[in-house]
Amino acid sequence: MTKQNKGSEKLWGGRFEEATASSVEEFTASIHYDSRLYKYDIAGSKAHAAMLAEQGILNNEELSDIIAGLSSIEKEIESGTFEFKRELEDIHMNIEKALVDKIGPAGAKLHSARSRNDQIALDLKLYLRDQCDRFTELIDDTQRSCVTLARQYLGNIMPGYTHMQRAQPVLISHHMLAYFEMFQRDKERIADCRKRINISPLGSAALAGTGLPIKRETVADSLGFDGVTANSMDSSGDRDFAIEFVNCCAMIQLHLSRISEELVLWSSQEFSFVNIADKFCTGSSIMPQKKNPDIPELIRGKSGRVIGSLMSLFTLMKGLPLTYNRDLQEDKEPVFDAVDTASASLAIMAELLGNMQFDTERMREATQTGFITATDLADYLVLKDVPFRDAHGIVGRAVVYCLSKECELEDLKLEELQQISPVIEEDVYDVLSVEGSVNSRVSTGGTGISRVEEAVRKAENQLGML
Ligand code: ARG
Repeated sequence: MTKQNKGSEKLWGGRFEEATASSVEEFTASIHYDSRLYKYDIAGSKAHAAMLAEQGILNNEELSDIIAGLSSIEKEIESGTFEFKRELEDIHMNIEKALVDKIGPAGAKLHSARSRNDQIALDLKLYLRDQCDRFTELIDDTQRSCVTLARQYLGNIMPGYTHMQRAQPVLISHHMLAYFEMFQRDKERIADCRKRINISPLGSAALAGTGLPIKRETVADSLGFDGVTANSMDSSGDRDFAIEFVNCCAMIQLHLSRISEELVLWSSQEFSFVNIADKFCTGSSIMPQKKNPDIPELIRGKSGRVIGSLMSLFTLMKGLPLTYNRDLQEDKEPVFDAVDTASASLAIMAELLGNMQFDTERMREATQTGFITATDLADYLVLKDVPFRDAHGIVGRAVVYCLSKECELEDLKLEELQQISPVIEEDVYDVLSVEGSVNSRVSTGGTGISRVEEAVRKAENQLGML
């Protein structure tokens, strides 16, 4: 029975009479990307071993050998001296094999009551839990940059757009705080997703649980989980939590992409609303005059990548029967790529916004044309008891009249306005000015300065900036 067979260099080699083909080793290996989970794999193994010792499956000496062995492996990995082996497939077997080599038979007991199926689910959850906390901080930084600009430019006016046409004047600060709100929802989404990440799958074993006398709750507790999953078959093949997290990344990237699109437009000569610092732009190899907004363009471009990762995961999962299937190994790369891309984009956006100035004069000027206070004139008529639909028509005719005279609404004389509607009086000019328009919009959530000032303060407070 002690006869060694050809497959025996593998931890699972007992059943095999032939060595694995090297093409198969190459095709199945995940160590070149899942090595980044080492810290979580080791933490999970330590907690698992401690529980096994409490349950009498390991003795105290075995436990301390395992803990010491795992700690020294962790140090080797961190110092770059650990040799990852492709033929050991993944992070779990690389670490376990190194442990057995280091401490002997005690190391071989570690995998009792555990499978790589629940182990990888655990590692990924621990990793993503950390990412939830890291992303929350990264979003905070980007929000701080938005709020800093909102504070700095409080009172400055710009055109607000619908359909990319000048629509109504708004405060620059109001515009920046719109992004603050989007990022706020991103943080809420992450906090919600974290709740489902923070339930331990360990102890589900391969798929059906284990007959060994384990205590799942103890391990979960010591790893900081809020509880344990309820169904072993569900948890060995569940990746909903990964999809949810990548969805959070996709939403973040989408928001970053929208702000990027605006920065690209605003930094064009046609708009010239913002000046992005030289150190955040790049030049052209052929056109000497160019200063290109490559950072926002790349962020916008990378949104395709993150949304693509989300689609990969959906497609990966949609046809999988219960429980673990090797397909699941394909979850890691999209998850890691989404994490890397969205976190790098958040960080650089926070920095870029801190290196940018608005051209407030130019933005104010852009509100002077385009009949941007037409809605205010209609609202004025409503206050004079004209039904809104009639008011809309009256102002429409006033705009046509201005177009024929090549002037703006506020250039019209009172008599001209009165010909359009007799209810118009001298006070109409208060609403025809852009300041008057902005300041009148004090409905909750509106762009009136008093509302925006309140919103800036609230945001600063939430971000601990006061
Ligand atoms: N490396 C695998 C993954 O990432 C985990 C191992 C499970 N493999 C197995 N043959 N049961 O999903």
